[in-house]
Amino acid sequence: MIKKLLSFLIVLLLCIAFTFSSEESIEEKVEKLLSQMTLEEKIGQMTQVDSSYLSDPEDVKRYFIGSVLSGGNSGPSNPTPKNWADYVDRFQYYALQTRLKIPILYGIDAVHGNAKVYSAVVFPHNIGLGCTRNEKLVEECARITAIETSSLGIRWSFAPCVAVVQDIRWGRTYESFSENSDLVSLLGSAVIRGFQGESLKNKYSILACPKHFVGDGGTRFGTGINRLLDQGDTRISEKELREIHLKPYVYAIKNGAKSIMVSFSSWNGVKMHANKYLLTDVLKKELKFDGFLVSDWKAIEQLPGDYESQVAMSINAGIDMVMVPDDYVRFINTLKSCVLRGKVPMSRIDDAVRRILKVKFLLGLFENPYADRELIKKLGSKDHREVARRAVRESIVVLQNKNKVLPLSKNLKHVCVVGPKANDIGSQCGGWTISWQGQKGNITLGTTILEAIKKSVSKNTKVTFSPYGDNIPKDAEVIIAVVGERPYAEFMGDTFKPEIEYSDDLILQRVFKEKKPIILILLVGRPVEIEEYLDKTSGILCAWLPGTEGEGITDILFGDFKPKGKLSFTWYTEDKNRFTFPYGYGLSY
Ligand code: GLC
Repeated sequence: MIKKLLSFLIVLLLCIAFTFSSEESIEEKVEKLLSQMTLEEKIGQMTQVDSSYLSDPEDVKRYFIGSVLSGGNSGPSNPTPKNWADYVDRFQYYALQTRLKIPILYGIDAVHGNAKVYSAVVFPHNIGLGCTRNEKLVEECARITAIETSSLGIRWSFAPCVAVVQDIRWGRTYESFSENSDLVSLLGSAVIRGFQGESLKNKYSILACPKHFVGDGGTRFGTGINRLLDQGDTRISEKELREIHLKPYVYAIKNGAKSIMVSFSSWNGVKMHANKYLLTDVLKKELKFDGFLVSDWKAIEQLPGDYESQVAMSINAGIDMVMVPDDYVRFINTLKSCVLRGKVPMSRIDDAVRRILKVKFLLGLFENPYADRELIKKLGSKDHREVARRAVRESIVVLQNKNKVLPLSKNLKHVCVVGPKANDIGSQCGGWTISWQGQKGNITLGTTILEAIKKSVSKNTKVTFSPYGDNIPKDAEVIIAVVGERPYAEFMGDTFKPEIEYSDDLILQRVFKEKKPIILILLVGRPVEIEEYLDKTSGILCAWLPGTEGEGITDILFGDFKPKGKLSFTWYTEDKNRFTFPYGYGLSY
């Protein structure tokens, strides 16, 4: 009897050993697949196309496309979760019809929640999260974003932006955690851990993509688009570049980043997309980055020379995947010609494809290429919104609190709320929400500040809403004025002078005449000019771009929670040598 049991156990152990030993390593799987691929199939893997340019999704099959993205304005016309999942799976279906059945990797800018999807939870933009200094909370927000993204079959987010912004006149300041490189490194790594979880193979996990490599936040004013900042030239020493702008990528790689997006900007006159020293020698060799590099949107076409030179220069510099994103046939044919004419060595093509395939294996895409529809019901859930509400709470910075006017009592007799932004989810969310630039209005599900105020106060409190600050009731004990910037993204937000919208300033000038206590709530993507409001208001809360959970603001306004937020940017005035509030400033109760 014992003999039989022993022999059974030995056979069982041998079977287990054989099973595991026969399990190929990812490297072996990559090599095996690569060895079967034609040049066209390899170049297809290096090609990323925006979904809006794939009018015939079967082109994914015809051209062996390796990645599809939905940039700022692409996606299903009615962006519900189910429509998104159907939209993404349709491209995947054609990828799996190819000879080698290599799945596409679908990418989206889920930069503050999967905010292009209607009813997804929209978190505070990074400038607000920077004021929390809470890496656990930021990781939790990213984990939720991963669930609300992967549930749609999208396994890659072009985030976190780890720009270390040095000039707040840049329109992408709100995408940055801070002017401080250590804080950016800390929170950027937290997002990577949240996105990627314990394993990229986990169905909730998505691939992070720290961006934009490198020095995007340090460009010189006047060198960018429209002679402003965006996509400009960062003119600093290599020592400064490494200490300020490279540090977040060192942390990102240590925290498992397997894709990095390259910056439109230049360093001392050399376009990043052509900078072999930084892309290959520093990032891939010195820092041992073993993921893949993706270009930014049509960015290789900003390089010198004709298109063939641009393709050869960018691929040879170290770009592995090109966000074309439109004329993919031209890109594919041009890169093929570069290889056949010896302008791009096959070893560079094979290195790029190895990196891409490895990440696809790490993500488990070959086993689970489609949306896991079970997850969709978690999208926009109450518990997800509770976490976002906590993030809003902790991001708020109280800048002024004269005579301890804050927190307000919930038993006031009459509160008057002014400013159209008080009842505007689009203004609360800012750019990269439903669309590229974002927009005012009722664009997605959430709680506006006005709705949150009405839910917070006692049933005996009267709340009047006067969007334009006229007809303020005589018996209103306090005016809550919600003002700020219009939604914008990228170069559309570049400015000589960050300030609230002119229309909001007119409303303030009107209510200042009321001689009532005024609480200012700022919905801004960066520090703005507020010096003239300081002596005309009692309290000032900066809520940044808080996203959908407006109750996080009233949690602080009415004192259910004490404010913890501390400025992650110096609050400069127009005079760059003078600030209104220092980095790290923030009042509490
Ligand atoms: C944009 C941005 C980049 C974004 C990409 C795809 O131009 O620079 O941050 O991820 O295009 O939308």
